[in-house]
Amino acid sequence: MTAAAPSLPAGYRLFPRARVGSTNDEAKALALAGGEDGSVVWALEQSAGRGRHGRAWASPAGNLYMSILTRPERPPGEAAALGFVAGLAVADALGELAPTLPQPRCKWPNDILVGGRKIAGILLEAEVGAGGRLGFVVVGIGVNLVSAPTAVAFPATSVAGEGAPAPAPAAALAAVVGSFDRWNRLWLAQGFAPVRAAWRERALALGSEIRVRLETATLHGRFADIDQDGALLLDTGGELRRISAGDVFPAR
Ligand code: BTN
Repeated sequence: MTAAAPSLPAGYRLFPRARVGSTNDEAKALALAGGEDGSVVWALEQSAGRGRHGRAWASPAGNLYMSILTRPERPPGEAAALGFVAGLAVADALGELAPTLPQPRCKWPNDILVGGRKIAGILLEAEVGAGGRLGFVVVGIGVNLVSAPTAVAFPATSVAGEGAPAPAPAAALAAVVGSFDRWNRLWLAQGFAPVRAAWRERALALGSEIRVRLETATLHGRFADIDQDGALLLDTGGELRRISAGDVFPAR
């Protein structure tokens, strides 16, 4: 690949690629071959980019597509925290890279929005190893820098689409990994509480009426909070429902 190599914090190793199917698949293959914590797969384009719930992630050149391989010494049940770590990392990186943008907001569970439109998404894929221990987690991150898809369930945007100069993918990669490193260290040292507190400060629609689309139903209620595991707590009028997977929309 021809792009200038970005510099990453100590402990990270870059695996740059011109075009792959999915950087998450490449990072998982690396993990299964013994790849180390801190390996980062970065591609200029993806031919089979994936989003949550098996959705496609459009991946033309110009945007950021990257996956970080991590091997945290934590129980598998705590892996979801990395989605919030990555969300904060992307929100902070966008603030650094494009300071004229409106403040990025975090939409449960792991989306980043600017001006009410999705600008970045995160796909976590974990594997439990021997003895029920967490083997690895791949944190896949896509950030719309120059373009955004149009035919999507939730409206999307990009840095350029918001009228700000779009950073080069290499610069965005360096900013996201630098910020991920800081939030990840905080999580490893102090647990989920400070990550949760920071995420709540940037949360979209916390305390407001929302719709949550589950696999087989849609629930309506007030976004009461996220709990100490990152699950969404929905007040449906008397009953507090705990939701661990779903898509959040405005109430309508
Ligand atoms: C979502 O919002 O649904 C998650 C989108 C995650 C997209 C990124 S792009 C880099 C990495 N490789 C993939 O195939 N997906 C993630």
